[in-house]
Order: sequence, then C-alpha cells, then structure tokens
Amino acid sequence: MIITVTGAAGQIGYALLFRIASGAMLGPEVPVSLRLLELPQALEAAEGVAMELDDCAFPLLRDIEITDDAAAAFDGANVALLVGSRPRAAGMERADLLSANGAIFAPQGRAINDNAADDVRVLVVGNPANTNALIASAHAPDVPAERFTAMTRLDHNRALAQLSGATGAPVSAISRLTIWGNHSSTQYPDLSHARIEGEPFEIDRGWVEQDFIPTVATRGAAIIAARGSSSAASAASAAVDHVHDWVLGTPVDDWTSAGVVSTGEYGVPAGLVSSFPVTSTGGRWTIVEGLEIDEFSRARIDASTAELAEERAAVEALGLLAPA
Ligand code: NAD
Ligand code: LMR
Repeated sequence: MIITVTGAAGQIGYALLFRIASGAMLGPEVPVSLRLLELPQALEAAEGVAMELDDCAFPLLRDIEITDDAAAAFDGANVALLVGSRPRAAGMERADLLSANGAIFAPQGRAINDNAADDVRVLVVGNPANTNALIASAHAPDVPAERFTAMTRLDHNRALAQLSGATGAPVSAISRLTIWGNHSSTQYPDLSHARIEGEPFEIDRGWVEQDFIPTVATRGAAIIAARGSSSAASAASAAVDHVHDWVLGTPVDDWTSAGVVSTGEYGVPAGLVSSFPVTSTGGRWTIVEGLEIDEFSRARIDASTAELAEERAAVEALGLLAPA
C-alpha cells in the first residue's frame, strides 16, 4: 500500500512513520511504500528521518520517497495522513489560522483528487482537524466525502484512559465510549452508553461533569503546558489506531470515535465533519445510530456542533470551500 504522510519531518511524523513501517497500522502482512510530503525547508530533516527508517530494516518497508510536490506525494496513495499544518502563532486570530490552513488543505485536497488511488482514505490530523478535512474534501469532488475523516481517536483514547484510571477497569474492558463534535475543548466525551466488561455501570455524575469531561476536553492544552509542545507520540498512536480500525475493522460489540461527514445523524447538520460513534466493516465507517441522547448530552453535542458550523461559515466566507 502507498501511504502518504504530510508534515513528515515534524514531531508527530517522527513518532508515526516508524509505527507505520513496523506494520502496526495495516498489519504484519502488508508491505508499505512511504511518500513523505514536506515544505522545502524541511526536506533535509525528512531525509534524516528516512535514513533512520532505513536503519530500522523494517521487513515491510518497501521504499520511501520525499518531496515538496503534492502531486508526486499523493500519486497512487491508498492512505493519506494529513499531519502538516500551520500552528497558531501568538496574536493570530482564528480567521488567520483558518485562512493559513485553507492554503494548505485546499491544494492538498485537489492533489488527492487528481492523483490518489481510487480507494484513497484520508485522515486529517493537522488542526483545526475537522474543518481542514472539510476544506480538503471540498476540493476533491471525485473522492466520496466519506473518505475524508478527522482525528478524534486521541480524544477517545484519552477518555478510555481516564475512565480506566477512575474505575480501575483495564482499558481493554471498556467499550462503547463516544467523543462527539469538534476536536477542540467543546468536544463532548460521553459515557452514557459506555460499558465495563460488557455491562452498564454506575458512575458518580459529579466526577463525570467536573473531572472527566474537562480533563479529556482540555488534555491537549495540558500536554502543551507540561511538555512545552503539543502531543506527538500519543497523536501518532491514535492515527495508527484510526487507520487500523478503518481498514481492518472495529471489534464486535464495540465502537470507536472518528470525525466523519454528517448526513444529519443526531441532529448534526449535514456536511459537517463531526465526531460520532462509529464502527467499521469492509473498510467503511458507519455511524452508530439509534442511541438515546439525554438532555445533558444534547446540550453538549449541540454546543460543539455549533462551533463546527461557525468554523464552516468562516471558511466559506474566506472562499475556501469553493473548488477553484
Ligand atoms: P510540527 O510543527 O512538529 O510539524 C509540522 C510539520 O508540518 C513541519 O515539519 C512542517 O514543515 C510541515 N508542514 C507545514 N506545512 C506543510 C505543508 N503545506 N505541506 C507539508 N508539510 C507541511 O507539528 P506536529 O506536532 O507534528 O503537529 C502537526 C499538527 O497536528 C498540528 O496542527 C497539531 O496541532 C495537530 N495535532 C492534532 C491532534 C489531533 O488529535 N487531531 C493531536 C496533536 C496534534
Ligand atoms: C491535542 O489534542 O493534543 C492537539 O490537538 C493539540 C492541541 O492544540 O490541543
């Protein structure tokens, strides 16, 4: 399989590429060809990463190509991991950030449209991930919108870890947890349908509302405060999990969370790329339908969805959703 990674010389790239090449993402039987897209000034650093990949002598790694040309990078790509993006700088307004990222994700969407394999699956990691996915998809009219996804698996994994820590249940015993909405602090980590050892369980509402939800929703900022830079290894691990489950399927009786295009499920306006509970079979995400949504959950899903709608309106106003 041909795997394209953008921002390959960045800190997530450094954690991600070795996991992909080891077979963690697509399994121990699937050889991988890596295509690394970087900015011209980071090509030399990407060469260094490629030297280290060579030095691992991964049996599944067929070849590595490094380029600053998006058409070449996405040529024949089966999986595209869009990691490279413009971080928010001091004094930058949200519109500035959305506009800077539009300049990245619009041309990359076009390059995917024109060059990638017919079965291409796209995961956007670069922030603001949901809206960047929307922009890329808008510029790839020949690729079904459902193939553009945004990463909320890191939030899902963070929620699993928090619940495991609070209950003592191993992560492997927890199922049916959901992240709704945007990959931002408005996201809603939802335990209403969660199970431990396959059974519903009692949990203190005060802990859920005052501890669990804010801890998961602001974990990215807490990592930045502690590390001095944003999450990298955990983000890479979540990207591996997302693509692994998308291609190879989710476990029976469980679901995961992913930012996928809404067709109106749970009142989320159609066209928004929002996080939902999802299963995957046959290489396709399906939104889990029919879950009961109580008043508490409704308000939080609506708040995060409203933020996504605002982001969409902002990029629409900037002309970033109109294919050139
Ligand atoms: P980084 O700054 O270390 O690396 C980004 C890399 O992208 C750099 O090497 C840069 O040269 C490259 N780049 C920038 N524009 C590019 C373009 N147009 N084409 C190709 N490459 C380009 O950043 P990082 O820590 O690796 O994080 C990358 C992104 O992932 C950030 O936007 C970050 O906020 C986001 N992130 C998302 C999640 C999530 O859960 N969705 C989690 C962590 C980080
Ligand atoms: C994260 O969730 O760790 C990243 O999206 C970084 C951030 O800005 O929160």
